[in-house]
Amino acid sequence: MKKTILSGSTVTGDLTLGNYIGALNNWKNLQQDYDCLYFLADLHALTVMQDPKVLKERTYSFLAQYLALGLDEKKNIIFVQSQVPEHTQLAWILTCLTPMGYLNRMTQFKEKSEKHVKNINAGLYTYPTLMAADILLYQADLVPVGEDQRQHLELCRDIVGFFNNRYGEGTFTLPEAYVGKMGARVMSLQDPDKKMSKSDENEKNFVSIIDDPKKIEKKIKGAATDSGTEIKYDVENKAGLSNLMTIYSVLSGKTYAEIETAFAGKMYGHLKVELADLVVSTLKPVQDKYHDLMKNRDHLDSVMKMGAERARVRATSTLKAVYEKTGLVL
Ligand code: TRP
Repeated sequence: MKKTILSGSTVTGDLTLGNYIGALNNWKNLQQDYDCLYFLADLHALTVMQDPKVLKERTYSFLAQYLALGLDEKKNIIFVQSQVPEHTQLAWILTCLTPMGYLNRMTQFKEKSEKHVKNINAGLYTYPTLMAADILLYQADLVPVGEDQRQHLELCRDIVGFFNNRYGEGTFTLPEAYVGKMGARVMSLQDPDKKMSKSDENEKNFVSIIDDPKKIEKKIKGAATDSGTEIKYDVENKAGLSNLMTIYSVLSGKTYAEIETAFAGKMYGHLKVELADLVVSTLKPVQDKYHDLMKNRDHLDSVMKMGAERARVRATSTLKAVYEKTGLVL
């Protein structure tokens, strides 16, 4: 029996070059070794203000981005959260087991409520209980999470404990964080001490996989580098440059030493120009595929529908067990 991995992504921002590189390295291996589910967390997106048209468009766009990056909808289960109503059903039951004291401790809630002072809604507060439902419905063994989501995963594990105390064990798999094999880490372009993130407020920090060539060029040329001149891989003293070299290395297949030799005596600007070309040409087939997919909504709809159907087979089976344990009449 393969272990189950569940990966969720809120539909905000667009996938980045970091996702591209991560996807290339991981998805193929993951789909072989694990039973993989990927879903778009559109319900979680609703915890902050959304323009309905934009939200809908983003959901299609996100699905198209994943498919364009090569995620295989037959070998993985890809679905949209809101199309599997069991998420909200289980979330309610879990919410009723979660002490407010635990939710009060969530740092993301504190941060987000400082940022969205005009919209501190109850959904923002119970966000982690919906996330727990996402995970537990599929009996996920492993969940790849960024630093910002670790606390939520911890809470999910606590919630399994609350459920077990109340109703007995055996309903849910206790999930763990999935720590992938350390691939190349792509850092922010302006602030190379932090990871490149799709939810970064500053657009200049990331290259989105659907940025047009001009934008890509501008962002890479504008990447922050130190005031030195020598092209040398040195994360400690040349974090920005080293990050560009990492991207160059992954996309070209060249080692750092080979890059250093190729650019000996040249300036940072030369590397940036070549890197921008390389990124543009690498993303070209992905972008072509993306635009084709976006023109074919019927196909995207059918991918979503198939994914939701496959997800529901599992979700309903877990929810049924939960109904039985909790005394809800099926
Ligand atoms: N909250 C996650 C994020 O912002 C997205 C998410 C929602 C998620 N539900 C999940 C991730 C379940 C993993 C498992 O990145």
